[in-house]
Amino acid sequence: MSDRRDFIGTALGAFAGLGALGALYAAKRTWDPLPSVKAAGFTTVDVSKAEENVLYTEMWRGKPVFILKVPKDAKPDEAPNGRDENAYEDPRLIKIGNDKFLVAIGLCTHLGCIPEYFAANKKFICACHGGQFNAAGEVLKAPPPSPLVIPPFKIVGTQLILGEEGPEYKQLKAQGLVA
Ligand code: FES
Repeated sequence: MSDRRDFIGTALGAFAGLGALGALYAAKRTWDPLPSVKAAGFTTVDVSKAEENVLYTEMWRGKPVFILKVPKDAKPDEAPNGRDENAYEDPRLIKIGNDKFLVAIGLCTHLGCIPEYFAANKKFICACHGGQFNAAGEVLKAPPPSPLVIPPFKIVGTQLILGEEGPEYKQLKAQGLVA
């Protein structure tokens, strides 16, 4: 009887171990950065492998830059300021191929903390003072006074070049949408 219990205990332990490994592997895939190349103030990121609703963070000139392939139903679960429109329609999103991306400096526009993205709720929450942004970086809840800032960028195929002003960036700038 005790042999049988030992066997069940061992089998359960092995099963739990496999489950933990699987969870670790899934988490690691999420942590893996997108392929990027850095050179003289520019960071080139290939977004072709980006997964929808997974936040990637690249460093550019010492600052974190958020890259998020925004899901088509990017309406936050709850929008404290009544701004519950679908973030996917936001004109600040950047079209690369058939997808739309948030590309923004990952620093809260209140006092510069790094907000965290909650994929299930499709919004960013800043732990410092409770500010919130939707998946397009627009403010859902103060105190942040303005949306997440879009850095200069250029698009070449599926490559996003941070630090260079391409036509898409200039267009957003002319519309007053980049800061
Ligand atoms: S720094 Fe983000 S809410 Fe204050």
